[in-house]
Amino acid sequence: MTRAQDMAWWQQTIAYEVYPKSFLDTRGQGTGTLAGITQKLDYLAALGVGALWITPCYKSPMVDNGYDVQDYLQIDPSFGTMADMDELIARGRERGIRMVMDLVFNHTSNECAWFVESRSSRANPKADWYIWRDAKPDGSAPTNWRSIFGGSAWEWCEERGQYYLHTFAKQQPDLNWENPQVRGALYDIANFWVDKGVGGFRIDAITYIKKPPVFEDGPADGEDGLYPVHAATANRPGILEFLHEFKREVRDGHDIFMVGEANGVAADELDQWVGANGVFDMLFEFSHTHVPMGAEEIWCRPVTWTLTDLKQALAQSQEATAHNGWYPAFFENHDQPRSTVNFFPCDGPLTSKAKVLAAVLLTTRGTPFVYQGQELGYGNATWKSIDEFDDVQTHAQYEFALGEGLDEKAALAACVRFSRDNARTPMQWDDSAYAGFSGAKPWLPVHDDYASCNVAAQETDADSVLAWYRALAALRASRPELVAGDWSELLAADERVLAFERALGDARAVTLANFSNEEATYDASLVDGLAPLAASQGAPIAGILRPLEAVVWG
Ligand code: GLC
Repeated sequence: MTRAQDMAWWQQTIAYEVYPKSFLDTRGQGTGTLAGITQKLDYLAALGVGALWITPCYKSPMVDNGYDVQDYLQIDPSFGTMADMDELIARGRERGIRMVMDLVFNHTSNECAWFVESRSSRANPKADWYIWRDAKPDGSAPTNWRSIFGGSAWEWCEERGQYYLHTFAKQQPDLNWENPQVRGALYDIANFWVDKGVGGFRIDAITYIKKPPVFEDGPADGEDGLYPVHAATANRPGILEFLHEFKREVRDGHDIFMVGEANGVAADELDQWVGANGVFDMLFEFSHTHVPMGAEEIWCRPVTWTLTDLKQALAQSQEATAHNGWYPAFFENHDQPRSTVNFFPCDGPLTSKAKVLAAVLLTTRGTPFVYQGQELGYGNATWKSIDEFDDVQTHAQYEFALGEGLDEKAALAACVRFSRDNARTPMQWDDSAYAGFSGAKPWLPVHDDYASCNVAAQETDADSVLAWYRALAALRASRPELVAGDWSELLAADERVLAFERALGDARAVTLANFSNEEATYDASLVDGLAPLAASQGAPIAGILRPLEAVVWG
């Protein structure tokens, strides 16, 4: 039995993801700043946050909001300066909050000095730092791979007379990890941030770093005649050798954690990726987000799903990390629509839905990752036209949907439902103009509901989603079984109730969450001898859950 106090700090804490462009603007420019994050550290501490994942804030042309890095050792001027970052790291540490940097190592910006040099000729010192290939004899791209953001994954470069590969946007050329100089340069960057005192790393798009030995066309799966680059390059044999080296060079010997973003790794492969023999401490795998969105990149095709599909995905990830490794629990991040919309096959109040998900997130086994605004119970934003979206992927997917034969209305509806911009609207701090996010017009419109859904209003409401998050965070911190306890699923076949038990020695806690908007009954003996520790709709009744009610017993 592992005792809670024997676990690493990052297993015992709550992690929070900040999308800095949308968190808080201290300069009246319409985009967020690092100083804005520093200003809100007390707010985060009150949520029990001990690790703060900041999406990329390095110097960048911002084609993909920082995931196109120009210089990994500089802060983008729109966010502030390196002194602001040092200040954030130091002030965070005073409150027990450690910064987690986002390492975008599959690709750089096309404006990164490495790429500028690499594309200049076939014979420069960095000629081999990216993935260059000759055209097919007819001049077309080397393969028919479709980039994740849509269109060919190859871009022609006049200067070299060759194509380069980009898994994402054409402004995000893929690095060549086969070249040891590239790997060394990346490890040096990571160690620069270790030396600054960060608490860990989230490693972006890491499953794409190993390319197959032979580049071949694949069978087209869309009207554009292309084949998904993901199918050709994700999680290829040999990738773990690179990552073991990465771990040795960066992680070993430091009290930090690394969580990889691992689209393409299945739950049953997790033991090679995390834990004693693995390469990361935790891995974001996406089997549960694939339930409502579909596993394909082509999300404009409708998906039908039931609660047991979601439960099976979550249970698989739990079981895969039960004895080896650790799970980063999440329902939201900056690439997902809001969870209150995404994870419910029924209608019902968003606040109730947000509380149901919070109960699961904060009592399950693993480190909970809360995404900014999730603790207020946001829904998706209201978008009226494709022109309102900023996200490079949303625009590409809209075009793709049209190419697939959807009319404009249906293509827009798919974007409204699934766009990543749903998660990126400005944080709602109060009911003043622009929700207290900025003194100037924000880069993305503030959600319509900001006058009622904001931090200031929820801080004074004992029944708010925010108050529920804080209560659950405090509960988690006070109950070792919620951190270190074993996890076992209850009521696996129930289509309304998601339920599990956490057990540590004699201590036991049971979470029951009704995902339906109908009353649900369950065998009351499951909670025999237990008392309610947290209940989302007032005094609970053993054996019955009200519509969209969650109760933690212990
Ligand atoms: C990851 C990020 C996403 C980004 C992509 C390319 O999936 O989470 O936001 O667009 O990588 O870097």
